[in-house]
Amino acid sequence: MKLIDGKATAAEIKKEIAEEVELMVSAGGKRPHLAAVLVGHDGGSETYVHNKMLACEACGFRSSLIRFESDVTEETLLQCVDRLNNDADVDGFIVQLPLPVHISEQKVIEAIDYRKDVDGFHPVNVGRMAIGLPCYISATPKGILELLKRYDVETSGKKCVVLGRSNIVGKPMAQLMMQKNYGDATVTVCHSRSRNLKKECQEADILIAAIGSPAFVTADMVKEGATVIDVGTTRVPDATRPSGFRLCGDVDFEYVAPRCAAITPVPGGVGPMTICMLMQNTLSAAKKEFYS
Ligand code: GUN
Repeated sequence: MKLIDGKATAAEIKKEIAEEVELMVSAGGKRPHLAAVLVGHDGGSETYVHNKMLACEACGFRSSLIRFESDVTEETLLQCVDRLNNDADVDGFIVQLPLPVHISEQKVIEAIDYRKDVDGFHPVNVGRMAIGLPCYISATPKGILELLKRYDVETSGKKCVVLGRSNIVGKPMAQLMMQKNYGDATVTVCHSRSRNLKKECQEADILIAAIGSPAFVTADMVKEGATVIDVGTTRVPDATRPSGFRLCGDVDFEYVAPRCAAITPVPGGVGPMTICMLMQNTLSAAKKEFYS
């Protein structure tokens, strides 16, 4: 069994990005600049955004954090998006989700200039991704593709099962795994209403679990020699940890891992790759790789 080390891979990629940035800057170019908008004080969002800012530093990017209290109006937030759209120094920006319920996330996402949408959430980027045009690809599916590539996991012609159909992970993952230029695989998407879910999983050469249900994938659901990618990051209470919780994946790792050709751990698998892919998208934005 090969352990797919997302933490080490992410560190390698950040180093590669930092080297490229220094070359760009020494050639007289501008330092890439990522801005993040954070609303409220949700613990998970605070941690994610903090880690995104640290990753910017590691990559040699400029970063800006714009904070609002959770009672900010939708109008004020949309004005901020508009300002960032028009700030020539900002190459790309994100609005950390979730947003308070009185704000329409979709409205905010659609207000972002798709050319600066380094999260890849804007419908223009989602649509372009679906038909294989150059665009920002959202961080989690992009990170999984990168891990499969760097660990030489053959995907072409293989059977891939994606568990989960979220807009951020399941749907784009399935799209990319089926595309000729990316996974080139035969893809099945399973979700909470799927019949024969266990049988579908048993047939998978590559199983990507993104359902947000701790230890959902058990050993009897996994084919011997399969590659298993665990996207789950559910916080479960753990009094032995200083934080009071630990992260639990969607895969029952202890029993599933011995059956696998390769598997990602939680933590240290897909998680560290997502922020690193955001850095890659920001570098692409600074280089105007997809849009002029
Ligand atoms: N919340 C959880 N994941 C993400 C992400 O990738 N981007 C943003 N903007 N919010 C998130």
